[in-house]
Amino acid sequence: MIEVINSVSDWKQILADKKNIKSIGFVPTMGALHKGHLSLVEKSVEENDLTVVSIFVNPTQFNDPNDLKNYPRNFDQDKNLLELHNVDYIFYPDYSEIYHDNYRYKVQELEFSKKLCGASRDGHFDGVLTVVMKLLNIIEADTAYFGEKDYQQYLLIDGMVKAFFMKTKIIPCATIRSAAGLAHSSRNELLTHKHREIAPLFAKLLRSNLSVEEIKNELNKSEFKVDYIEEIGSRRFGAVWLGKVRLIDNVELGREQNDTMS
Ligand code: PAJ
Repeated sequence: MIEVINSVSDWKQILADKKNIKSIGFVPTMGALHKGHLSLVEKSVEENDLTVVSIFVNPTQFNDPNDLKNYPRNFDQDKNLLELHNVDYIFYPDYSEIYHDNYRYKVQELEFSKKLCGASRDGHFDGVLTVVMKLLNIIEADTAYFGEKDYQQYLLIDGMVKAFFMKTKIIPCATIRSAAGLAHSSRNELLTHKHREIAPLFAKLLRSNLSVEEIKNELNKSEFKVDYIEEIGSRRFGAVWLGKVRLIDNVELGREQNDTMS
């Protein structure tokens, strides 16, 4: 039976009672779970003696109060899915448990966090890094799994763990897509029927051989509003709006470009 833990002290007690567990795997999420999250969960369950999934819609990483209000929340369904996937514990804290300091203390990265998603979402990565450091310190996992769908987030978290000599190993996991190529995302639930149909074009253009400018032009011809399309190193990153919903994606240039989508 899966167990739901709401407080840090309850989790620390479980840790103290389980001294002989060889490896703990951890998957931090904001819930509204889909196939992308579940691929991380499956990997953790396969590779560890025990798996913990956290569900916490982290207010400090939302720069828009409406986005926070409308973010999908579906705890009962998430719990059933995690139980079916043989997860051992759900860590499900409330705001005051995580932010008893009222966000007086935060973790910041001063360069890469200001680019791409950080350029248009002020303070977003401060919120992400702060909550992930708190969660990693609470859970004390050996390994934590993050999706390449949020590649900038993965790089920043991996950098933080190394910068602060934290003990958890960070594992990147491939982006899971729909048959039409759209990366699964909790926010896809918020798309209108019409926008859901055109959304895969974003993934398709990002993976095409077109230049950045050509991709922007193609997106602008449709209903997309481009936030950014940028190439950094060997990766092409993109963020677009469809109505009130913001979608992000990225591809490794050369390797993933023009792959058949599955
Ligand atoms: P959330 O958006 O719920 O995503 C949780 C994890 O699932 C992240 O590591 C994300 O990259 C991964 N993920 C989401 N969609 C995916 C997909 N289609 N394929 C593969 N992996 C996917 O990312 C967050 O939450 C938060 O910022 C968090 C790290 C939990 C901090 O609050």
